Amino acid sequence: MHNSIDRNNSFGENIPELDMNYLQELLKHNAPRRPFYENVAILGCGYVGTALAEYWQQQGHFVTGTTTSPNRIASLSQATSKVVLMTGDDATAMNSLLQEQNTVVVSVAPTGNRLADEDVYLKTYLSTARNLVNALKQSPKVKQVVYLSSCSIYGNRQGDWVDETTPVTPSNLRSQALYEAEKILLQASSEKQKVCILRLGGIYGPGRELVRMFGDLAGMTLPGRGNRFINWIHRDDIVGAIEFARLNQLEGIYNLVNDSYLTVREQVDLVCSYYGLPPVYWDGSEPNLRGKSLRVSNEKLKAAGYLLIHPQLSM
Ligand SMILES: NC(=O)c1ccc[n+]([C@@H]2O[C@H](COP(=O)([O-])OP(=O)(O)OC[C@H]3O[C@@H](n4cnc5c(N)ncnc54)[C@H](OP(=O)(O)O)[C@@H]3O)[C@@H](O)[C@H]2O)c1
Repeated sequence: MHNSIDRNNSFGENIPELDMNYLQELLKHNAPRRPFYENVAILGCGYVGTALAEYWQQQGHFVTGTTTSPNRIASLSQATSKVVLMTGDDATAMNSLLQEQNTVVVSVAPTGNRLADEDVYLKTYLSTARNLVNALKQSPKVKQVVYLSSCSIYGNRQGDWVDETTPVTPSNLRSQALYEAEKILLQASSEKQKVCILRLGGIYGPGRELVRMFGDLAGMTLPGRGNRFINWIHRDDIVGAIEFARLNQLEGIYNLVNDSYLTVREQVDLVCSYYGLPPVYWDGSEPNLRGKSLRVSNEKLKAAGYLLIHPQLSM
């Protein structure tokens, strides 16, 4: 058949035959790409969720965002197409939220005075994960779930490197809850409904600038050598990586931290010198302040093709 088409076309013998292998490769490459306009739900429109909602709203998606706070509905209405007041432990609300959605992002964290309560932590993460998994079974249009977890579940590694294959050692109930939620969600991942877990470093960005966290230390003398590694990720990169996961239908666990790999001492020095603040001194004769130290590899996400927007700490 191809021969007869070739013979009859006006370009004669020079036109190449349709390369089915090439076409199949092309289709395979393009098939995972999501349709441009989707229904997307963001469970937990807090610091990250609201920025993501704004981005997707600008892109033309129909964005449904959730909050647990009636007083946030009005402000969230600016960033979303629809606001839902719900908590993740409400199974009925979860079922209704997921209907007609194509992509669901889970960005929940206990906020305000609920932060300190470990039971609330368990309820927030585990009930949300279980209800989400149940609701997914009745929501066939959902093709992609992105769940925001934390690198804190690796525990303290005394400065060693970890990647996604490193066994986790959550050091407290909160990290344990995050890890259990990851497991619940990953078990629900399938060819038709991909689940991607992004393990985030400490979040910073507009309104959560590093100077707000470190600035008060300026001029102080702190115990220890300040040689603890803290991993950060800018909010822009969280939005970027979620979009990357949606477009490429990522599945499984991906660390999301920047490339800076600096000790807390180096980070504090950077902040103080950038803002012209007095330096921080370290008293190496005293033991270090307690806290995790680890270097989290981001190679897997980069190998998948993600390019960091802020590879280094931005002030
Ligand atoms: N902060 C960090 O440095 C860090 C580090 C690693 C990972 N993470 C993870 O990154 C994600 C985004 O963090 P973020 O800083 O943007 O969080 P955030 O600003 O604290 O926002 C959390 C959102 O979750 C909602 N929420 C709280 N309890 C809930 C519940 N039981 N059911 C449903 N929604 C609930 C909150 O509702 P309201 O709107 O009513 O407040 C809020 O919208 C979270 O999953 C967090 O665990 C954070």
